[in-house]
Amino acid sequence: MNILLAGGAGYIGSHTAVELLTAGHEVIIVDNYCNSCPEAVRRVEEVAGKHVASYGADVKDKRTMMKIFEENEIDCVIHFAGLKAVGESVDKPIEYYRNNIDTTLTLLECMRESGVKNFVFSSSATVYGEENPIPYVETMKRGSCSNPYGWTKVMMEEILEDASKADSELSVVLLRYFNPIGAHESGRMGEDPQGIPNNLMPYIAQVAVGRRDHLTVYGGDYPTPDGTCRRDYIHVMDLANGHLKAVEYANTHKGVEVFNLGTGTPYSVLEIIHAFEEANQVPIKYEIGERRAGDLPEFWANAQKAERILGWKTKRTLADMCRDTWNWQKNNPQGYKK
Ligand code: NAD
Ligand code: UD1
Repeated sequence: MNILLAGGAGYIGSHTAVELLTAGHEVIIVDNYCNSCPEAVRRVEEVAGKHVASYGADVKDKRTMMKIFEENEIDCVIHFAGLKAVGESVDKPIEYYRNNIDTTLTLLECMRESGVKNFVFSSSATVYGEENPIPYVETMKRGSCSNPYGWTKVMMEEILEDASKADSELSVVLLRYFNPIGAHESGRMGEDPQGIPNNLMPYIAQVAVGRRDHLTVYGGDYPTPDGTCRRDYIHVMDLANGHLKAVEYANTHKGVEVFNLGTGTPYSVLEIIHAFEEANQVPIKYEIGERRAGDLPEFWANAQKAERILGWKTKRTLADMCRDTWNWQKNNPQGYKK
């Protein structure tokens, strides 16, 4: 199949590109590089050993996107292109709503005008909100979010459900990611956040490589076994494989289907720190600080539906996630900037 990856130069998109190429699909990447760089696409080509058609373009730009849809025979779209920093979304809600929702609408219009029927969407566990009991199951209602980023995901899920109701030929797969970490096993590709990392694993990796002095653990007094928050961390290559399964599923089904992509096993912040130290024999300096506003004490996935229907199951362990993160970071201390 020919698969268009909107936002395909980013962390999850680039790893998914390698997974799709390795499985024999063709990929077309469209990215405006607002949170990535062309070097990431070059590394995809290097790791997969294949050429990738890529366009430096804004997915909101309908005219350019229509040209891309006309130039390429597209069977499926995966929509990764979004702004994703929770804290920044509180300060810049208009930019977040504009970018995340407009990219989705533009892709849906281009698909309608060129007869493309399969759409896979990067959603998030954040749509379960604060009200649902854990573990999260796909049958639960979407909850209410504490920030505009989360609301964009809730809104886009609703937009996609409505689009699917209006077009019985459309196939939409909503993938709710839990906490993706890790990197490609080659050490040539990984997560390359701009500025100070917001997320736990890239922060730990930058402490390990000496770019940051220490990690602040956000809260040590949560009602969890060791007092720190627990999350469902998933290796980015297992997540990438979930996209491969989702694309194949979308090609043979109609309507909307939602899947959690997680392991089903939670780990605490302290467990992650210690697993990283043990897997890589590198000490991580940390101190326990204040809680971060908006953090939930713990959540993880019920991942049975993806296994039952997609035949997808995670294969990699927490030690693999820590080892691959470090392999990427130590070989690329400044990320893709060399
Ligand atoms: P990322 O920032 O690395 O990748 C997103 C890519 O989209 C970037 O390359 C960016 O340059 C591009 N982009 C953004 N707006 C664009 C636009 N208007 N036109 C063209 N390109 C644009 O993020 P990621 O971690 O790879 O996340 C991918 C998707 O998965 C996002 O939608 C994100 O919200 C979602 N998600 C991520 C996580 C996570 O922890 N990483 C968790 C849940 C959901
Ligand atoms: C965050 C977002 C979530 C988004 C996800 C993926 C918030 C509140 N939630 O999830 O909406 O879908 O990223 O982009 O931002 N931690 C530390 N110190 C740090 C960084 C993190 O202790 O320097 C802790 C956090 O408190 C949390 C855990 O590590 O308990 C994981 O944090 P993070 O990687 O930011 O992911 P989430 O908060 O789960």
